[in-house]
Amino acid sequence: MWWLMAGLLGCEGASEPEPAPEDTALDCTFEESTTSPLELEGRARCGADLYADACASCHGEDGSGTELGADLEQHIPYHTDAEIVLVLVTGPESMEPQELAPQETADVIAHLRDWFGDYQGSTHPTR
Ligand code: HEC
Repeated sequence: MWWLMAGLLGCEGASEPEPAPEDTALDCTFEESTTSPLELEGRARCGADLYADACASCHGEDGSGTELGADLEQHIPYHTDAEIVLVLVTGPESMEPQELAPQETADVIAHLRDWFGDYQGSTHPTR
């Protein structure tokens, strides 16, 4: 039977693009914990999925904003991780508080840092 299965899989494999190796390795499971997100290692690629689900509807697929939410490129570099946590927990204006686990919060922040860079100081160009 093995030769038959290998043959069938081989045929399918020929027409389907190979998944990128990092896709097969992506594991976004996490332990429930009460650790601060600031103490956790964020996983940017897991955060990208969370962003698409929880944030893109207001801040746009690429973070550049919509009429419902700000352009995050104008904000992320000017806020510390702690300030971003506060935003996510409190929800400013029409943004509702985000019900994310500490690990998910760390993941989303890692993703936003990947996109828009590390904290550059609090000098905010738009305020
Ligand atoms: C219902 C729409 C909505 C959703 C969903 C939403 N936001 Fe917001 N967000 C807003 C609004 C409105 C503001 C305040 C606008 C402003 O500050 O200019 C805001 C502000 C922010 C800010 C702070 C900007 C600043 O410096 O004042 C950050 C960071 C942010 N959102 C990130 C996120 C992330 C990450 C998610 C997903 C986990 C998310 N938002 C989900 C609407 C939303």
